[in-house]
Amino acid sequence: MPRHVAIIMDGNGRWARKQGQQRSWGHRNGVTTVHDITEAADDLGIKYLTLYTFSTENWNRPEEEVNMLMHLIVSSLEEQTPELIRKGVQLRVIGDMERVPKFARERLTRCVADTAAGTGVVLTLAISYSSRWEIVNACRVIASRVASGRMRAEDIDEAAVSAALATAGMPDPDLLIRTGGDIRVSNYLLWQIAYSELVFTPKYWPEFTRDDFTAAIAEYQGRQRRYGKTGEQIESEASSNPS
Ligand code: IPE
Ligand code: IPE
Ligand code: MG
Repeated sequence: MPRHVAIIMDGNGRWARKQGQQRSWGHRNGVTTVHDITEAADDLGIKYLTLYTFSTENWNRPEEEVNMLMHLIVSSLEEQTPELIRKGVQLRVIGDMERVPKFARERLTRCVADTAAGTGVVLTLAISYSSRWEIVNACRVIASRVASGRMRAEDIDEAAVSAALATAGMPDPDLLIRTGGDIRVSNYLLWQIAYSELVFTPKYWPEFTRDDFTAAIAEYQGRQRRYGKTGEQIESEASSNPS
């Protein structure tokens, strides 16, 4: 089982349009999928689920859609908070909160605090997030440590960079899933997905089911992760320490 699954939840708008509906209708139906997939991840014993909810680039969408999304995100989270607490889901948010309107930021902070004691799946929502924003931010943090003498430039290593990212403390995603048919990563977790397995599905996010999620995991489980080694090396390592 993967420890960490990251998802680019794409296709809400096209799914709605296909049925002659407004894009907002697609977003609302996408919330149901978030609920179902979080539950599925919890049932499967996946520890980390990280969902691309709103990107830095999404601020460029029409104001009406941005407002609709901000309200939808906070209201659906508030509605689901009691269930998240009951299930031990620990909610986290990563992204540039300075750009998030104050009402949404405050309510998000409250949901995060209310679920902080959860010991089950860690559900991280990437909101106002982009990987390049995150990496620039990490550079600033590290540079200021070096400038103030708390760190030496030669001590900057991969672990130090990882620890300065918003995902500090989480393992890298084992599996990245993108729904909606596009084969790109759209500025998501670029550092963290260096060796993730990628699964792309044409299904739009509102129509993505628990079975589709299980199928993506099965595809992941069928892959050989070689990390630069040969297949023979991986096989002999597996036979010498079966786990
Ligand atoms: C994903 O669905 C949700 C967000 C990006 C907020 P889209 O809104 O991108 O849907 P499509 O890609 O236009 O179909
Ligand atoms: C990626 O979807 C962002 C989220 C899923 C939140 P987009 O629909 O914004 O991606 P692009 O712009 O088509 O690559
Ligand atoms: Mg899209």
